[in-house]
Amino acid sequence: MSAGPDIVTLEEALESDRARSLKRYREYVNPDLAKLLALVGYDRTFVRAEGAVVTDSDGVDYLDCLGGYGAVNLGHNHPELLAAIARVEQMPNLLQVAVSGLVGALGQSLAAVTPGDLKKVFLCNSGAEAVEGALKLARISTGRGGLLSTAGSFHGKSFGALSVTGRPKYQKPFGPLLPGTRTVPYGDLEALKAELETGAYAGFIVEPIQGEGGVIVPPRRYLKEAARACRKAGTLFIADEVQTGFGRTGAMFACEAEGVRPDIMALAKSLGGGVMPMGAVLATDEVWSPAYGCAENCLLHTSTFGGNARACAAALKTIEILVRDDVPAEAARKGEALLSRLRDIARDSELVVAVRGRGLLIGVEFAQPRFAEGLSREYMASMVASLLLEKDHIITAYTLNNPTVIRLEPPLTISDEQLEAVGDAMERICRRYSSFYGVAAAMMSRALGRRLRR
Ligand SMILES: Cc1ncc(COP(=O)(O)O)c(C=O)c1O
Repeated sequence: MSAGPDIVTLEEALESDRARSLKRYREYVNPDLAKLLALVGYDRTFVRAEGAVVTDSDGVDYLDCLGGYGAVNLGHNHPELLAAIARVEQMPNLLQVAVSGLVGALGQSLAAVTPGDLKKVFLCNSGAEAVEGALKLARISTGRGGLLSTAGSFHGKSFGALSVTGRPKYQKPFGPLLPGTRTVPYGDLEALKAELETGAYAGFIVEPIQGEGGVIVPPRRYLKEAARACRKAGTLFIADEVQTGFGRTGAMFACEAEGVRPDIMALAKSLGGGVMPMGAVLATDEVWSPAYGCAENCLLHTSTFGGNARACAAALKTIEILVRDDVPAEAARKGEALLSRLRDIARDSELVVAVRGRGLLIGVEFAQPRFAEGLSREYMASMVASLLLEKDHIITAYTLNNPTVIRLEPPLTISDEQLEAVGDAMERICRRYSSFYGVAAAMMSRALGRRLRR
């Protein structure tokens, strides 16, 4: 072994205190991110999680309204999901050359719950990987090179996914990205139709509700008309339901609100029930067959861990529970109640300018002051998240493409009482503070207090 650092055993890692964990993160992972997380109070060690509650090493409970960025729709460590993984633990987790009964079964389950006629599935490990698969499939299936997406979108950070993501800040440092990509304003049908007329595009990729863009709900009928325009232009309609899928917006998939039948769908996050990483690309036979439907092409797109037994077991059980317990309907009911309470709070608040969302994908946008606008735009929602953490023990975060918005995206299994506590906390903050400056002062004094106590 080299004269570098010693290895760390799992037991040592699990027993490390907050200071040691932070030091290792700084030294071996990302020093500036560590600093930022410590500033807003996220340098705690979380040791337990169950349902919508996570517990730190001091025994303090926190209500998780971040929900793994939409990956824990069924709550943390759902016992039936852990049991599902245990049920297959004696099987080979990976034996890619064998026909897997679990992969076939998951394909069938996904075909059963997704809208339209999506009958072929490719399994992978993340949202970005699902988007890569979707973009490649659109190109090979149509023989066209162009890829159209929307401004403010988020589709992941691998090269292809980043190329269709509508946020220049994430793209610029890594150029040149994929050629042939273009964005149109989200929700603008005329701009989409004009672009489609060029006949250059293999696919139009779109989130039914933009999550990281700040929880933006498009105008009514936008998705339906966009799908129709795509069909007319020979462009495949790719629904990115990585974040909106599996009950999040009050339906199993957000596309259903307008009866849209996508040609391709990208899924991930809650597909693995929050206990296993998993992504999927689904397509109609019509789209899939010209791409991979022959012996020569059937292995053109692969992924080593795609369809491993444990992830499949978790995904099959996730879908079973979502259907059995009608979790999407529960999300619709709870989301309606929370949205209505937040809108009432916003009416009397100078701090909040908008409350948006559907189901339990909710964004709260904060006012920007005339002075310090740049600073406020980057940090306002983070500072509110920090106050929610410190004072109310509620975990949230800003939306990646729009840092003026905090997301409330709890597990769909969160109780009515827990949701009421979230509403109470938001109300207290909105009553107490009326501007960026008040929030900034409160957060800085808390951060300073924490530093002095250490
Ligand atoms: C709509 C959408 N697509 C794709 C992704 C990328 O997923 P992942 O982070 O698993 O790569 C995300 C992540 O937030 C997303 O919200």
